[in-house]
Amino acid sequence: MPGSRPLFNLSTLALPVIQAPMAGGPSTPRLAAAVSSAGGLGFLAAGYKSAAVMQAEIEATRELTGAAFGVNVFVPQPSVIGPGDMEQYALSLAPDAGRFGVELGEPRHDDDDWDHKVDVLLQKAPAVVSFTFDLPDPAVITALQQRGVYVVATVTSMPEAVRALETGVDALCAQGPEAGGHRGTFHAAGPAPEVPLHAILEELSKLGAPLIAAGGIVTAEDTRAALSRGAAAVQAGTAFLLADEAGTKAAHRTAMASRRFTGTAVTRAFSGRNARGLHNEFMRRHDADAPYGYPEIHHLTTPLRAAAAAAGDPDWLNLWAGTGFQRTTAGPAPQILAALKP
Ligand SMILES: Cc1cc2nc3c(=O)[nH]c(=O)nc-3n(C[C@H](O)[C@H](O)[C@H](O)COP(=O)(O)O)c2cc1C
Repeated sequence: MPGSRPLFNLSTLALPVIQAPMAGGPSTPRLAAAVSSAGGLGFLAAGYKSAAVMQAEIEATRELTGAAFGVNVFVPQPSVIGPGDMEQYALSLAPDAGRFGVELGEPRHDDDDWDHKVDVLLQKAPAVVSFTFDLPDPAVITALQQRGVYVVATVTSMPEAVRALETGVDALCAQGPEAGGHRGTFHAAGPAPEVPLHAILEELSKLGAPLIAAGGIVTAEDTRAALSRGAAAVQAGTAFLLADEAGTKAAHRTAMASRRFTGTAVTRAFSGRNARGLHNEFMRRHDADAPYGYPEIHHLTTPLRAAAAAAGDPDWLNLWAGTGFQRTTAGPAPQILAALKP
């Protein structure tokens, strides 16, 4: 209700399980609605999308469910790429692009349509909004809360958690190094801490704020372990990648299920920011020479990744997945949600 404090809080969930926002395809209105309707909290991922597409997805999800769901946005940061680094990395990538007969993308910096997204979020007021990669201006948080939105910040360390609480967020999503996809650290040009999720939870639970645990959670036992260390809910991404309702690319689904990929690793080679995915040939080749530089590197590699996905070649696109990927199963989202129930 406009002008009120959030109606949602984590204890109102029938199941303390959140389907992680997954930008780049996996998150869909169908997936979010299926999870929310089944008693968890589904999430839309607005990253890489325009505000107009985000708005259409919010409306589509509302058509599918009357239950609460969340929307995640990336907070823009200044450019961090060093002079000359882009040109050098583009030279190193040229043979890979040539393999698929495509040109590399334009390595532009952008803000992911930030201002328009904030306007739409204020207008549409989804039950939950989470922020990743940094914190917005405190005025944005207050304005969302005045619209009844429950605001979550993604953090990877105690200093980030303290800063997030100082800006007035309602809850923290504590992301451990086991997590698939991008590390949510506020540091655009450096690694996120390697402290395991359980240790982060124990540390952050001292702050007394509602905590959401993310990273490597794919079973009910994982959920129970996180709740026992102070989390109020868990946020699982990789567990939902093979859901029927997810928009996960075919090449990604096949790679997840194949025995070829036996492990994951963290790389900045695809996007210019550290992210965990199945350890493939592109990562092996470019881990050493890739600079930090998000979103420029993301745009640079986009045509190559799209061509590899279209060709069904899993070695040249990002296959984001967490350390628990081998314990995931395919099926309807409510079934995956039920398997995470503590
Ligand atoms: C394919 C994929 C895409 C992701 N995209 C986002 C995103 O758009 N925003 C975000 O905050 N986190 C994103 N994440 C990270 C999740 O929010 C969460 O931290 C992570 O999935 C938890 O670890 P798990 O994958 O082991 O469950 C993504 C994760 C995956 C696997």
